[in-house]
Amino acid sequence: MEISWLLLPLLYIMAALALILKIIPKQNPNRKLPPGPKPWPLIGNFNLIGSIPHQSLHFLSQKYGEIMLLKFGKFPVVVASSPEIAKQFLMIHDTVFASRPALAAGNYFSYNYSDMSFAPYGPYWRQTRKIFLPKVFNARKLESFEPVRVEEMRNFLSHLRSLSGKRVVLRDHLMRFTLSSINRILDELIGMFDEWFFLTGVFNIGDWIPWLNFLDLQGYAKKMKDLRKKLDRFLNFVIDDHLDRRKEEKGLNSKDVVDKLLRLAEDHNLEVKLTRDCVKALVQNLLLGGIDTSSTTVEWSIHEILRHPWVLQKAKEELDRVIGRSRWVEENDFSQLPYIDAIIMESMRLHPLATFLAPHYSMEDCKVAGYDISKGTMVLINTWSIGRDPTSWDKPEQFLPERFMGKEIDMLGSNFALLPFGSGRRRCPGYNLGLKVVRTTLANLLHGFELQLVDGMKAEDICIEEEYGLTTHPKEPLEIILEPTLYPIFIELCMF
Ligand code: HEM
Repeated sequence: MEISWLLLPLLYIMAALALILKIIPKQNPNRKLPPGPKPWPLIGNFNLIGSIPHQSLHFLSQKYGEIMLLKFGKFPVVVASSPEIAKQFLMIHDTVFASRPALAAGNYFSYNYSDMSFAPYGPYWRQTRKIFLPKVFNARKLESFEPVRVEEMRNFLSHLRSLSGKRVVLRDHLMRFTLSSINRILDELIGMFDEWFFLTGVFNIGDWIPWLNFLDLQGYAKKMKDLRKKLDRFLNFVIDDHLDRRKEEKGLNSKDVVDKLLRLAEDHNLEVKLTRDCVKALVQNLLLGGIDTSSTTVEWSIHEILRHPWVLQKAKEELDRVIGRSRWVEENDFSQLPYIDAIIMESMRLHPLATFLAPHYSMEDCKVAGYDISKGTMVLINTWSIGRDPTSWDKPEQFLPERFMGKEIDMLGSNFALLPFGSGRRRCPGYNLGLKVVRTTLANLLHGFELQLVDGMKAEDICIEEEYGLTTHPKEPLEIILEPTLYPIFIELCMF
């Protein structure tokens, strides 16, 4: 009797261990996992991720290879750091990896994963793409909105001309412009969107170690909740405003995307019903997709151009030769401006906006490059690393737009060494609009202004350190002085 009482705790411990062993998935000894650093209990490999995660993972990949397995908490994360491995995930096994992981940012910011970018693969996501691709992003639709973009560009350039001789922080003006050229809305949104892009990209410990979630150690969950409230107030305002106008103007056709989405929300034949929250999430997609993306791409290009004065010189020569001093650059000039395009591609290679593509997620077990990847693995495609792949790029660390001259190098998803817009099913649906805005903005800044550095700053002093987020920005926004260069008489009479 005495002995059995003493044995009781031991039996409990043995039972608990048996339970744990049952819960922990058994490793099949025949499975071949990608190489990677040994994870710590509870935190996994979080200790190896610094404040610029794509760089931390780039350096790790030099030790472990082009495909590596890490653990965030107890969850598996696979990192692809070469074009060949990116192709495996985005093309060869695209159907398996086309989903997204359910991270906190998606829950807080996308009405429970109802926008296109956070939605898991399935009928709802397919429906959002079916709505957006023909109704918003097709070539004819984009063309029909060209007058709006031209008008906004005209306002932007004449505003910059009015600031001639003054110091300006280019980033602030670029953000305002890309916002207005895609959606004419309020100034105060810019701050909110900055925060959104930061919070959406963070590695939130609560996502990966769920039992620590309630502590919100980094304070991100609180920030996400606060921002969600502000964004929701704004999106409600937009929807109500459109509903009111529709009531007043009974019988009129839909005017913009919000009207179109609201009409679709009344359609009972849709495969998946669009609720008011879905409409808000999709409107937010359009707003956010179109702002930070284009302006940050232009900002990186200007940083690199000013660091390399001979590139500026060649760009100006091309613009003078093709456009001349009496007009601005227009969207249809681009077939004749290969050097400007080469600058944009080179900037996107070295400074991809999404240093990791938005995370992909496996929907079933799959063998990739000879390794076993389990269902439920998050996949990070490190485009920052891929853009520096020495087997694809000669002198990868140098900014050399010339490498693109006279060559047909695709940047829309068929060349896996250059993936600024991703590839496969989840490829960016807004690439066409994004490129139009980037091209005309950059070309007109270079064509219409002398860009001067301030405070005796030299080209080599320009900082190209990064600030990480869902989109990665230059850490230090550049302050410059803009001096107009085009003939004023033509410019005042005819902006375009
Ligand atoms: C220079 C401009 C732009 C760049 C560099 C860019 C880049 C990207 C990248 C890298 C992705 C992730 C692809 C993947 O997961 O494999 C993406 C997705 C997305 N982009 Fe863009 N983008 C740009 C402009 C735009 C614009 C103008 C819009 C809309 C107005 C937009 C809307 C979206 C949406 C909704 C997704 C999610 C697609 C999905 O998950 O199915 N983007 N973009």
